[in-house]
Amino acid sequence: MLKLSDVHKIFNEGTVDEKIALNHINLSLKKGDFVTIIGSNGAGKSTLMNIISGLLTPDSGTVFIDGKNVTQIPEYKRSKLIGRVFQDPMSGTAPSMTIEENLAMAYSRNKKRTLKFGVTSKRREFFRESLATLNLGLEDRLNAKVGLLSGGERQAISLLMATFTEPAILLLDEHTAALDPARAQLITEITKDIVEKFELTTLMVTHNMQQALDLGNRLIMMDKGQIILEVNEEEKNDLTIERLLEEFQRIRGEKMATDRTLLA
Ligand SMILES: Nc1ncnc2c1ncn2[C@@H]1O[C@H](COP(=O)(O)OP(=O)(O)OP(=O)(O)O)[C@@H](O)[C@H]1O
Ligand SMILES: [Mg+2]
Repeated sequence: MLKLSDVHKIFNEGTVDEKIALNHINLSLKKGDFVTIIGSNGAGKSTLMNIISGLLTPDSGTVFIDGKNVTQIPEYKRSKLIGRVFQDPMSGTAPSMTIEENLAMAYSRNKKRTLKFGVTSKRREFFRESLATLNLGLEDRLNAKVGLLSGGERQAISLLMATFTEPAILLLDEHTAALDPARAQLITEITKDIVEKFELTTLMVTHNMQQALDLGNRLIMMDKGQIILEVNEEEKNDLTIERLLEEFQRIRGEKMATDRTLLA
């Protein structure tokens, strides 16, 4: 479903600010794989996401989505293939529009013949049913402006909207990091349900090691632009935070910088 082959990305090449953000990355995901990504600040996690979504083009290497070479295809042309939820709850939804308008916009994005914001009663019913699965009572607030909702509610709606396009890949970049622990837990649960229900092939960046262990069937650890550890399905079940930290030290010969909420 997703294949990165020898993907290399350097920022500001040839200047004093030169930075190798991705250093010859290889990664393959089968349909339905749910890979959690951990790694310190600046490891290259978001750059990896941006190259998959098409926001950035690699300097060399190839990106395949669903068997198709998309390396040079710009972001807007592969948006059908990608669902994405960012760290900032404000970035995924339009605050001045209602819940229903936001959902309608996401829904029509990949349907060729629909009225732009027209909502038929059948579709409204679909929106209500979809919102009800979140268990947040949002199905009764279709006309509420999204700008008035909490960060957690907005992230839940963003997740739901990402599924409307039936994406080949779902990209989650620390999408629970800006939430308080209770809401982060809630969004974690909703993420799990949605990924299972729609059998989405998913890449999730998180700074929370426990979350990285609890979710998904595979885990990768990045550092300095490289994938330094890959944990497969069988190994992942027995993995602990202590073992992960030990692994890092063994590979890198130094202690992992336990920055931010890494150990939360
Ligand atoms: N547009 C850019 N221009 C120049 N340097 C960049 C750019 N984007 C990222 N970088 C650099 O590339 C490296 C990787 O950045 P990236 O954002 O991928 O890290 P990350 O693993 O997502 O980190 P974090 O955990 O802090 O979000 C960093 O050193 C960063 O400063
Ligand atoms: Mg990042």
